[in-house]
Amino acid sequence: MYKINENYLKLPGSYLFSNIAKKVAAYKEANPQKDVISLGIGDVTQPLCPAVIDAMHKAVDEMADGTTFHGYAPDLGYEFLRSAIRDNDYKARGVDIALDEIFVSDGAKSDSGNIGDIFAENNRIAVCDPVYPVYVDTNAMSGRTGEYLPEQEKWSNVIYMPCTKATNFAPELPKETPDIIYLCFPNNPTGSTITKAQLQEWVDYANKVGAVIIYDAAYEAYISEDDVPHSIYECDGAKTCAIELRSFSKNAGFTGTRLGFTVIPKELESNGVKLNALWARRHGTKFNGAPYIIQRAGEAVYSEAGKAQTKEQVAYYMNNAKVIMEGLKSAGFHVSGGVNAPYVWLETPDGMTSWDFFDHLLANANIVGTPGSGFGPSGEGYFRLTAFGTYENTLKAIERIKAL
Ligand code: MLT
Repeated sequence: MYKINENYLKLPGSYLFSNIAKKVAAYKEANPQKDVISLGIGDVTQPLCPAVIDAMHKAVDEMADGTTFHGYAPDLGYEFLRSAIRDNDYKARGVDIALDEIFVSDGAKSDSGNIGDIFAENNRIAVCDPVYPVYVDTNAMSGRTGEYLPEQEKWSNVIYMPCTKATNFAPELPKETPDIIYLCFPNNPTGSTITKAQLQEWVDYANKVGAVIIYDAAYEAYISEDDVPHSIYECDGAKTCAIELRSFSKNAGFTGTRLGFTVIPKELESNGVKLNALWARRHGTKFNGAPYIIQRAGEAVYSEAGKAQTKEQVAYYMNNAKVIMEGLKSAGFHVSGGVNAPYVWLETPDGMTSWDFFDHLLANANIVGTPGSGFGPSGEGYFRLTAFGTYENTLKAIERIKAL
């Protein structure tokens, strides 16, 4: 008889955002006349910019012609896209990344889950608490997290690094030594950031204890302050201890189009084995490449027009963040994030639990947000609103919250 991966049975409930989607669908079915506004999942609302659309149309025409048609994409991604990434995301910031250290994929969510394939089961992971749930869930699926302890809402073998108001929602170096450290800055869900000097401490720590940092920089386009690093490779020594995940979802609206990339420097080794070679092997075997049309779309993000147009979209969402921050502050809420990130993190009023506040907002203001406790136990008593809605809906939502 075949056996299933029993680690899946340990996972509590369903994926956070699937849970929320089910709740919202049930609410809408029971209240079809209500105008429900979603500021919950971090999904974009603005259409792909004209430079990207033009590139896609052109690529579609190429695919329709036998002389310019493209079949399987190269394992690591087309060189035109990897060169654009190398030059714009790294060289322009004084970081030297080689073309064969960049692996184009269908997005940072997939990569942050799949990267676990190249690590042994007996690695101990450390995560921020609260945290983007994909890191923990996918490690649980691989049997790395121990047992789920429902009363604590924690896994027995995970090192949780609380990110609280007292630490400006940044993690402190863990007391127990991890093997794999997940960091995400600008942070999802809290919208917090750390300075380059603070990130350097993490890099030094990882090199000292022999840990690898998986650095999720999906929200780097939202950085507005100078001392916040855009890439972990801006820190000295990061190439010997860090993998970086990037996405086209949040900076260029590719949540439905799917495109991202992972950087694994060739200096990154465990006992003489290069992680770059392992990931190249995995990528070649298990991934068929992001489609040509989508990679051309990604290349267009780096054109002059693409840069200007995507910058405008980021500014549009950051204006929403300002509307949320200012509106909530004027209504007496305690808020953070929202300055270098498209997420606003607020304290629930009157000591409400995160899920109670979720139900309250949905029922009384018809607004969907994300309960902080869904991201980890330290998120209890907090709530996340995203700036990815339309401007009109964001204004409307804030007026409704103020009127509660
Ligand atoms: C979120 O809402 O946290 C994000 O949309 C999740 C993701 O990007 O996968």
